[in-house]
Amino acid sequence: MAYKNIICETRDAVGLITLNRPDALNALNSELIGELNEALRGFDHDDAIGCMVITGSEKAFAAGADIKEMQSKDYMDAYLEDFVTSWDQVGQRRKPIIAAVAGFALGGGCELAMMCDFILAADNAKFGQPEINLGVMPGVGGTQRLTRSVGKSKSMEMCLTARMMEADEAERAGLVSRIVPVADLLDEAIKTAQKIADQSRPIVLMAKESVNRAFETTLAEGVRFERRLFQSMFAVEDQKEGMQAFVEKRKPAFKGR
Ligand code: CAA
Repeated sequence: MAYKNIICETRDAVGLITLNRPDALNALNSELIGELNEALRGFDHDDAIGCMVITGSEKAFAAGADIKEMQSKDYMDAYLEDFVTSWDQVGQRRKPIIAAVAGFALGGGCELAMMCDFILAADNAKFGQPEINLGVMPGVGGTQRLTRSVGKSKSMEMCLTARMMEADEAERAGLVSRIVPVADLLDEAIKTAQKIADQSRPIVLMAKESVNRAFETTLAEGVRFERRLFQSMFAVEDQKEGMQAFVEKRKPAFKGR
């Protein structure tokens, strides 16, 4: 499928989406978000794909929502079209999504990265929620996901002052899983995604669901949810294969059943 604002490819069992509006530092306009949602949905339903990667360019993952597109909206426009609600679909995918972030991840760009399941950062990555400079605040989960990720102090400072966080600080704060040299970012993201795609498909989906439950419930409920899912895994053929392969000192051949 040919898209105007993204490039959509596969690498073995990995679905790779590259945000591709170089002249606007990958600013996220409504057409791009529509294409992104369609591509992610396609990969989510494609049995040949086990994990997805979203990336941008070396200069910018995405510099935020498209300011030029939204500047003339009034309240009724925003309310009636339910502006930015469709972005949530990124967080509704069942298969894991890795954000491979180089350069600027600002505003909606930072929010998009945080909607993914984890962020691999290049050493030149810069994260920020600079909406306050535009007379607004984050609108796609920035005040919520950033706060859960890096804590109140850093999140509050970033949302109130627009201060950007460099890769080192983002790693120390727990916003990104790790940092790699910018030249290695895509290879490392694809290698990591392929590692996930090689695991048992149903177990990966359940593990993702269980980690995400940690953000939605109490510890006791989360642990109960995890235990029930864990017990159910003994009905999955891949559990038999995985454990038998360990005992027989060989690689498991998962069937995704
Ligand atoms: N929307 C629309 N266009 C954008 C953009 C954005 N978010 N960010 C950059 N661009 C455009 C610029 O207008 C410029 O276009 P022209 O060449 O036509 O002038 C082009 O991309 C290159 O940008 P700069 O010349 O500004 O590049 P720079 O290297 O000097 O600066 C930057 C880079 C610091 C990222 C700067 O572009 C910038 O501050 N961008 C805006 C960041 C921002 O405020 N993001 C939040 C958006 S609001 C939001 O996201 C709300 C939400 O929660 C949904």
